[in-house]
Amino acid sequence: MNQRELQELLLPHFHWFHQHPELGNEEFETTARIRQVLSEFGVEILDTGLKTGLVARIAGKKEGPVVALRSDIDALPITEASGLPYSSQNGGQMHACGHDFHLTALLGAALLLRERQDTLAGTVKLLFQPAEECGPGSKSVIATGILDDVQEIYGIHVTADTAPGIIVVNPGPVTAAVGGFRIIINGKGGHASAPHECIDPVIAAAQIINAAQTIVSRFIDPFDRAVVSITHVAAGSTWNVIPRDALLEGTIRALGTDQFRGIAERLERICLGIAQVTDTRIDYVWQLSAPSVQNDPRLTDFVIETAKGLGLEVKSGTLGMGGEDFSLYQEKIPGVFLTIGVGSPQATHHPGFIADPAPLHTASELLTALGAGALERLAK
Ligand code: NI
Repeated sequence: MNQRELQELLLPHFHWFHQHPELGNEEFETTARIRQVLSEFGVEILDTGLKTGLVARIAGKKEGPVVALRSDIDALPITEASGLPYSSQNGGQMHACGHDFHLTALLGAALLLRERQDTLAGTVKLLFQPAEECGPGSKSVIATGILDDVQEIYGIHVTADTAPGIIVVNPGPVTAAVGGFRIIINGKGGHASAPHECIDPVIAAAQIINAAQTIVSRFIDPFDRAVVSITHVAAGSTWNVIPRDALLEGTIRALGTDQFRGIAERLERICLGIAQVTDTRIDYVWQLSAPSVQNDPRLTDFVIETAKGLGLEVKSGTLGMGGEDFSLYQEKIPGVFLTIGVGSPQATHHPGFIADPAPLHTASELLTALGAGALERLAK
C-alpha cells in the first residue's frame, strides 16, 4: 500500500475517532472500533481481560524477539471549540491531546506490519492503552502480564507547536515526574471579632502558599526544572466567622523521581514548621502519579537513524513539564517516547487544539520501521 492509499484509508478513521471521544476507562466504543478495524486488517487480538483498550499481535514466521508499539486512546473532559467539521459529537469530551491521532497512526502501522508479517524477525505487540489522562492506564496494561516478554517499547505523541511531520525526540528526560498534594490545616473556628480565642487556619494557609514558592526559587539548581503550584484553596463560607479548617491542593513536577521526592518532603517540612508557629495541626499527603519519561540513549539513536532513513526531519526537544504514564513501561522495558509535529494553532488540552492529520501516514510508517527494525537488530 502506498502513502496516498494509506492516508486515504486512515483519514475517515481519524475523523470518526475525533468525533467520538471517550474519557479514560470509558473507551468502550473506541475499543470496539479499534477491534473492528484490526479484524478487517486480519490482525490477531490478544485476550488480556482489559475492560477498555486492547493489545494486538503481529508475529513473524520465525520465533524471535518481541517489541511493543504504544498508543493511548482516551480523551479529555473539554468542550471542543476547534470549529472543525468533524468536531466532537460527545458533549463535554474532546480529543484535545491527539490520542485519536496516535491510535489511528498505530492502526496504520498494524496494517503495514501485517503486509510484511512473513518477513518480520519476531513479534510486534500493539498496545492501545486506556486511561492515560486520568490513569495510570499503563499500570493496568502491565498488570495483565502481556508485556512480560517485550524487550523494547516505542510510544508516539503529537507535539502541537511543531510543523506537521517533523519528529522531535531526545535522550534522557522528556516529561516531568508528576504528582499532587493535599494539605488540611486544622485550627479552631470562632467569632471573627475575637481572633485571640481562635486558631486561624487561613493565616497558616497563607504562609504555606508563600513559603511553598521558596522551594523552587531557593532550593532547586537554576539549571534544573521544577514546578510547585498551589491550585486549590478553600476555607470559610462567610465574612464574620473564622473557619475551623482550610484546604490546599496543588501539583509538583520535576525532572526525575528523586527531585520530585525532595520537593514533596521539603513541603512537608514547611507545613510542620508553620503548624508549630501557628498552633494549627496540619495533615499533609502527597502522591507521585507518574515518574518522568526517560528515553534510553542508545535506542534514541536508533529512532533518529530510522526516522532519517525514511527521509524525515528530526529535531531535539522535550514535551515540557507535563506527565505521561509511558514512564511506567520504561521502568520495566527500555524504550523511547517520541513526538511528531501536528502544527496546532493551540496547545494540547486547549479547546481549540487541532491536530493536522496530514502526517498520519508518516507516523504509521515510522512506527512500522521502528517495530520491524528493532526486531531485526535484536534478532542478530
Ligand atoms: Ni496525551
